[in-house]
Amino acid sequence: MQITYYGHSCFLVEIQGKKILFDPFISGNPLAVDIKLESIQADYIFITHAHDDHTADALTIAKRTGAMIVGIWEMHAWAQRNGINNTHPMNIGGIWNFDFGTVKMVNAVHSSSFLDGTYGGQAAGFYFETLEGNFYYAGDTALHNDMKLLGKHLDIDIAFLPIGSNFTMGIDDAMIASKYIKCDTIIGMHYDTFAFIKIDHDLAKKKFASQDKELILMAIGTTTTFKF
Ligand code: NI
Ligand code: MN
Repeated sequence: MQITYYGHSCFLVEIQGKKILFDPFISGNPLAVDIKLESIQADYIFITHAHDDHTADALTIAKRTGAMIVGIWEMHAWAQRNGINNTHPMNIGGIWNFDFGTVKMVNAVHSSSFLDGTYGGQAAGFYFETLEGNFYYAGDTALHNDMKLLGKHLDIDIAFLPIGSNFTMGIDDAMIASKYIKCDTIIGMHYDTFAFIKIDHDLAKKKFASQDKELILMAIGTTTTFKF
């Protein structure tokens, strides 16, 4: 699978020729000024929760590309209210088969409201099972005990975990999460974008390495191919 980083928690994952975008936040991200919003292609936009740093560009991209917005019920309702017809609602614990593979919506511990204060449903994460590998995209979340269930019952090749602290897990909790989910290859997200979540890259990578885990901090605008 091919993974492109657009900054903050926004990634494009390409599987079986399908382009799957996560939590688009480009136009308001000072670190993503070199990313051209109009150049982003998507077949699906998966959204973990309603906060603006995860939804800011979702409607714009969905309108231009025709991509399907996938999220919790309240996210689907928000997209529909805003003129997007191509949506797929899910809720925590549910599984759906898409044309690129199977997705399970899993628990996250975080709040979720839109910019105007509207309730955004519960914050969620996603587990993807595909022919090109399985991954967990945690969204914004604290470390939580349910992650042990993911490690026990799922087979995660690679995981996207927040590491910036203050609003989500920080490095130390992400290392524990990596243990809980039984996955040693972690792509960091939700760091550096704002003053509250700046991290020391070298220290973070060293901490992971000291436990025989790999923390990947992709440069914004770059693409990496992962084989599992
Ligand atoms: Ni958030
Ligand atoms: Mn966030």
